[in-house]
Amino acid sequence: MNTRRIEITQEQLARQRAFMERVSGLNARRDTRPLALVDTYGCQQNEADSEKLRGMLKVMGYDMTSDEYAADVIVINTCAVRQHAEQRVLGNVGALSHTKKAKPSQIICLCGCMMQEAGMADRIKTSYPHVRVVFGPHELWRFPEFLLCQLEGGRRVFETSPSDGCVTEGLPSERDSAVKAWLPVMYGCNNFCSYCIVPYVRGRERSRRAEDVLAEAEGLVRAGYRDITLLGQNVNSYGKDLPDGVDFSDLIAKINDIPGDFLIRFMTSHPKDAGEKLFSTMAKCEKCARHIHLPFQSGSDRVLSAMNRRYTREDYLALVRSARAHMPDVVLTSDVIVGFPGETEAEFEETMSLVEEVRFDALFTFIFSPRAGTPAASMPDPFTRADKQRRFDRLVELQTRISEEKHRAYVGSSVRVLVDGQEDGVLTARTSGGRLVRLRGDQSLIGTFQTVRITGSNTWALSGELI
Ligand code: SAM
Ligand code: SF4
Ligand code: F3S
Repeated sequence: MNTRRIEITQEQLARQRAFMERVSGLNARRDTRPLALVDTYGCQQNEADSEKLRGMLKVMGYDMTSDEYAADVIVINTCAVRQHAEQRVLGNVGALSHTKKAKPSQIICLCGCMMQEAGMADRIKTSYPHVRVVFGPHELWRFPEFLLCQLEGGRRVFETSPSDGCVTEGLPSERDSAVKAWLPVMYGCNNFCSYCIVPYVRGRERSRRAEDVLAEAEGLVRAGYRDITLLGQNVNSYGKDLPDGVDFSDLIAKINDIPGDFLIRFMTSHPKDAGEKLFSTMAKCEKCARHIHLPFQSGSDRVLSAMNRRYTREDYLALVRSARAHMPDVVLTSDVIVGFPGETEAEFEETMSLVEEVRFDALFTFIFSPRAGTPAASMPDPFTRADKQRRFDRLVELQTRISEEKHRAYVGSSVRVLVDGQEDGVLTARTSGGRLVRLRGDQSLIGTFQTVRITGSNTWALSGELI
């Protein structure tokens, strides 16, 4: 597998910084500070990218707004993983023709995974003339250049060349939270699961150097972040493209050595690359959260093979046993796809029985969505949408019962939580296993670890009181 690394050089970044200064110079001449809106679809990787877009916008003199009529610049960071997400994006972009009409100087930009799909940029070019800038995830670091071009009256920008992807260090980031931070450790994916578009739009796997990840983690801890999530499509293959021999478990151990009280989380682990070393490292590292998100996708060996997942049901169950042997209190969550092409009733029952057997704490359930260009999109599929919906509803019902039971078992216990925010006057907090706890208390507790007695529960959350 080709894992060629392309690192964006300091000279290339210096050029972008010069563009940022020019944009900020233009903005400084205005009577009021300009406003920008960044709207994000998709996974945490996109959230992290949007924080970088906001970081660059801030350096260029923009304040953030959520009012699309007031915004001078709108950036929509898109996701291509399922059709539904795409339809939402296209619907919202269509509606922005009204804001553009009301404010002709508005600059509308589209970026992210959808833009990297075959034919999408051309579709935007012809059907959405109010969109001025289109760029894929590999070109994110060039955003200042694209924006300046528009401010200086330049032509529409379409930068979505096919690429294996790159690694960019040193972009500014404007983080959403002061408590929890995303920390991408690698980009792209080499796995080519037969249903998934991510490898086509995000390029090949490439890792950030361990020293760059560590420096960012140290900076986050120093800045008071208490919950750091290491991101990658398949974090377990971290470092395979680097010469220094640091694998993902070694990276966790190094971050664990940073002094301070904080939690290390990560996502996502691919079962084919997870194993003993990861679980024993998690168990040894006191800062590593007791949570593993380990997508299984299907309980049927035939379907797993057709999905190109490269593990069997038994391999998966053995991993779960191993994780629980190392960490009896580990919280397990997973992803599953219902209605993969040709999945029979009996094969779906194998998914149901795996869920019964493992008893996940929570499950992200998806109905198969055909993605053009992936092998699964052209596989024969005799089952109807209604068949799939029925299966989906049964699976959700099963998991709802299991999640309720698992949550009920917390009632009466005391747990350590990180208070991370406030919603409708109630504090929100997370256990080490990532379970949401709602509690009453003062806002000043946000960003602190507390011990809480669990007093109530439902499918999605726990409620508790401070001890
Ligand atoms: N890299 C992660 C992994 O392999 O576990 C998954 C990342 S993907 C963005 C998140 C989830 O979306 C997948 O685990 C899968 O369940 C789901 N997914 C991906 N492609 C899909 C498709 N074509 N239809 C339905 N669900 C899909
Ligand atoms: Fe998609 Fe599979 Fe890669 Fe996950 S591992 S991003 S599901 S191809
Ligand atoms: Fe979507 Fe791209 Fe993430 S396709 S799920 S935003 S990697």
